[in-house]
Amino acid sequence: MNNKPDYYNDLEKTYSKIWDLLKNGLDNRDAPFHIPVFVCGEIDKSKPRIVVLRGIDKGESKIWFHTDIRSDKIKILKTNPKASFLFYDKTEKVQLRISVISKINYQNDLTKKSWEKTAHMSRQCYLGEKAPGEISTSGPTSGLSESIDNLKYSIEESEEGYKNFCVVENFVKSIEWLYLAAKGHRRARFDLENNKDTWLVP
Ligand SMILES: Cc1cc2nc3c(=O)[nH]c(=O)nc-3n(C[C@H](O)[C@H](O)[C@H](O)COP(=O)(O)O)c2cc1C
Repeated sequence: MNNKPDYYNDLEKTYSKIWDLLKNGLDNRDAPFHIPVFVCGEIDKSKPRIVVLRGIDKGESKIWFHTDIRSDKIKILKTNPKASFLFYDKTEKVQLRISVISKINYQNDLTKKSWEKTAHMSRQCYLGEKAPGEISTSGPTSGLSESIDNLKYSIEESEEGYKNFCVVENFVKSIEWLYLAAKGHRRARFDLENNKDTWLVP
């Protein structure tokens, strides 16, 4: 496609495009934006991992994902809530770096609502007795009992997983946009904290 998209030289349209891409990532499991890389870290090290995008709110400038309260990322976020997301869509030729402040939600109204919407199969992730990342003394393991591995548990039994479930809400501080085009890349920064948007040299 040689035609330039309407957002090519337009900051406002670029910002709208960002939230359209996030919405598509939320709704479409096959979209590259469905599974961003989430990065957080302590002072001397940072750690990336893929998460599933579970919610977006353009009005409140926040995006969220689900995780296990016992996971490493939660320990890290408790010491340093400054984190970021990396998204890349090859077809759209768009990379997004989103800087955020993360908030851990545990056993509150938001986690309750999200847990109710979490399907039987997805609840499996929260039904392991041991914490994710713990050393397995018994060799290779899924961390789950055989019946849970085989999805042989009732929806009532899956309620046990709620104690390990949390929702990480991420309040957007800034977004960096990179659009790749043969006839000139475009890069922009949206500083939501200071309400300052600007083009950058790619
Ligand atoms: C396609 C894909 C989707 C994933 N989705 C999630 C997710 O939504 N939440 C999550 O906690 N981990 C998810 N993971 C696993 C994480 O990448 C990571 O391995 C795990 O959360 C442990 O990370 P931590 O030890 O840094 O906390 C996903 C992995 C893949 C490959």
